[in-house]
Amino acid sequence: MISDSRVPSGAAAAPDDADAAVFDGLDVAAHLGDPTRKQAFVTPMFDIVAPRYDDFTRRFSFGMDARWKRDLAARAVCAMPADGGGNMLDVACGTGDLAFAFARARPHARVLGIDASTRMIARAIERSGVDGTGPRFAVGDLTVLGLPDASFDVVTAGYALRNVPVWRDGIRELSRVLRPGGRLLALDFYLPPSRLWRALFLTYLQVAGNVVGWRWHGRAIVYGYIAHSIRAFTTADDFSAALLESGFVEVRVRTYLAGGIAIHEAIRG
Ligand SMILES: C[S@@+](CC[C@H](N)C(=O)[O-])C[C@H]1O[C@@H](n2cnc3c(N)ncnc32)[C@H](O)[C@@H]1O
Repeated sequence: MISDSRVPSGAAAAPDDADAAVFDGLDVAAHLGDPTRKQAFVTPMFDIVAPRYDDFTRRFSFGMDARWKRDLAARAVCAMPADGGGNMLDVACGTGDLAFAFARARPHARVLGIDASTRMIARAIERSGVDGTGPRFAVGDLTVLGLPDASFDVVTAGYALRNVPVWRDGIRELSRVLRPGGRLLALDFYLPPSRLWRALFLTYLQVAGNVVGWRWHGRAIVYGYIAHSIRAFTTADDFSAALLESGFVEVRVRTYLAGGIAIHEAIRG
């Protein structure tokens, strides 16, 4: 449910790394393995990492994240109505990379970014122009958007569905708000099909994530989480199958890093 397009007072304040103490003594495995508890771990974690999130993604992906997002945003732009208008929704928008890239390319489209983390939304609003143009941002849950059926031409989801308690519920909700013929573009990490590469990929993400989480925030888990979340997620092929089961047709997928990353493009039937 989208709660407010403004930021609650105090949400933009720089978080103290002492915030990370919320994870002390927390049974992380139990939270991540239990859909009824996962969000209670994920949202505070993204609140903590929000101030350094952009720097982290750039460095941790060796610049590849920007390329994947450019690729996704270009596809999203092509999927919009020819008259230059239209409605675009970026779910789990974080600090707004995809929403801003899209809005720059389509200045006359209405662009809404939603995210569960108030601090991510606060960063996105800080990046917005002061003239009231550009994307709007709101705190909200992508699995219960509270937006009308069939109201968007394009929905983008950057590293979004892996982070929600039940990702198939997320797909269904995104399908609901897309108009028939509208397009979903989702970028995320997946379990690589090769077992050897999967083991290497997850080990790298686990070790590097733990080190950065510890050095930057004093808690390994805030970035070590990435590997945990991929283990609990799925493969790019399985994700394609789930899209087809949820009312999408013509699912196309482009993989990177031997299946560790994928962009799915799916048309709402
Ligand atoms: C890895 S970040 C991705 C941010 C941005 N899309 C990007 O690509 O840079 C994942 C985001 O998902 C958000 N998130 C997690 N659960 C969510 C939910 N149920 N609804 C909306 N956003 C959620 C987090 O707050 C976080 O900002």
